[in-house]
Amino acid sequence: MKDILERLEERRAQARLGGGEKRIEAQHARGKLTARERIELLLDKGSFEEFDMFVEHRSTDFGMDKVKIPGDGVVTGWGTVNGRTVFVFAKDFTVFGGSLSEAHAQKITKIQDMALKMRAPIVGLFDAGGARIQEGVAALGGYGEVFKRNVIASGVIPQISVIMGPCAGGDVYSPAMTDFIFMVRDRSYMFVTGPDVVKTVTNETVTSEELGGAKVHTTRSSVADGAYDNDVEALLQVRRLIDFLPANNMDGVPEIPSFDDPNRTDDSLDTLIPDNPNKPYDMKELILKVVDEGDFFEIQEAYAKNIITGFGRIEGRTVGFVANQPMVLAGVLDADASRKAARFVRFCDAFNIPIVTFEDVPGFLPGTAQEYGGLIKHGAKLLFAYSEATVPLVTVITRKAFGGAYDVMASKHIGGDVNYAWPTAQIAVMGAKGAVEIIFRQDIGDQDKIAARTKEYEDRFMSPFVAAERGYIDEVIMPHSTRRRIARALAMLRHKETERPWKKHDNIPL
Ligand code: HXC
Repeated sequence: MKDILERLEERRAQARLGGGEKRIEAQHARGKLTARERIELLLDKGSFEEFDMFVEHRSTDFGMDKVKIPGDGVVTGWGTVNGRTVFVFAKDFTVFGGSLSEAHAQKITKIQDMALKMRAPIVGLFDAGGARIQEGVAALGGYGEVFKRNVIASGVIPQISVIMGPCAGGDVYSPAMTDFIFMVRDRSYMFVTGPDVVKTVTNETVTSEELGGAKVHTTRSSVADGAYDNDVEALLQVRRLIDFLPANNMDGVPEIPSFDDPNRTDDSLDTLIPDNPNKPYDMKELILKVVDEGDFFEIQEAYAKNIITGFGRIEGRTVGFVANQPMVLAGVLDADASRKAARFVRFCDAFNIPIVTFEDVPGFLPGTAQEYGGLIKHGAKLLFAYSEATVPLVTVITRKAFGGAYDVMASKHIGGDVNYAWPTAQIAVMGAKGAVEIIFRQDIGDQDKIAARTKEYEDRFMSPFVAAERGYIDEVIMPHSTRRRIARALAMLRHKETERPWKKHDNIPL
């Protein structure tokens, strides 16, 4: 008996070494942790239960029958994050470069199936060379099995991907179908085809970093939702994100004890809006002053900065925030901002996370670049996302709510449940100057007349009261009481029920 126990320990120890000491050293020398070290950091101490540690590949081509390494390049199992169950798989770059074989794929799909069955989040840690080249089509089949499960689980359980090394070929599409992708700066990259293929096909010379590094994907392509300096920081931030997320689409948002009084007022908000309507101010200040303990997890912070998206809490319960940012492009809605916010709104709606919208938007961005880039279709994504949302929607207009953008940003008309405005709100078809230049075109040469007309237009429309007179705004609120008003609205909306006609699924303008 003792022998058997010792043999088990030996086999476990061997499996835990993955590709061996040398490759582990090489992994560390590159500033990367091993798959198991990463899992230890992601999960609560001692909570990891590993599955399939002894699985080996079954291929025989190219001498593969002579090289078998237990685990086959991916470590899988489950554990807890602050006590809540989370499933995890981590590519082990020390074993065949973390490449995906048929057996490797089966380990991942087993975990995907369990996560879905248990209705618990799943996290994938990527550091791999794509399909196991020696296996060919068996590896491709394996990817397909993973992809299909990503899609079936989408909107049922949160799926998070962290890119911590190379991620190419087949490996990119599974993360792309998950809810969030995070990357590690300078050590990770994602692309469908690498620099060598790019050179052959398009004759471009690019480095891996230029083609698919964290900077590219967080600022230009919007493939990734955030980037961190190293493995440790990335994993700690993923733990933080998981704390905000429901376990699944039926559980409702997690509730943690909050020591921040929901009735807390903040007088500094009464002077947040500058006297000059064209002067910017930082909308993040409002978010940070409203959420519990100033704790805000921003999504896509470096992309389309003219709109802010992220998670905070009110009375200990998760809330999604969407806010125009007057500091960047005056907070205008362009194609990128619309896509960014639409995806966030849909995530919140899928997982029953109420949405608070802070609005200061001068309209949609004019220009050929935007129109040729499909602004109509991208803007429609955000309009569609808000309109289909059935979660509680609370909107606060702080300043400008002009034109179509007024309708889009969770207005009463498309489903806003509680719509507030600050006294500084200006709700109109457009700014006074533009309006006067169109309706009083004949007076354009006459400065005095134009000034008088502009004043007249401002007095009539540049306030929240015309909208409030029609009931489009439920109440004009004091800026200092914004947190209290939102907390009360969300408490009232907690059991909101909305009926929609049956359909197979909608047809959002993609
Ligand atoms: C088998 C692989 C492998 C792979 C790496 N290795 N990629 N083994 N299949 N795809 C092995 C290497 O042989 C090596 O083994 C070890 O992993 C480390 O690799 P290195 O090349 O030494 O490391 P590094 O210099 O850091 O380069 C990492 C890399 C490179 C950039 C990932 O290995 C690489 O380009 N790999 C191939 C990438 C690729 O083309 N994959 C197929 C994509 S096609 P030893 O024994 O020496 O340690 C694809 C199609 C699926 O995925 C599409 C589905 C939709």
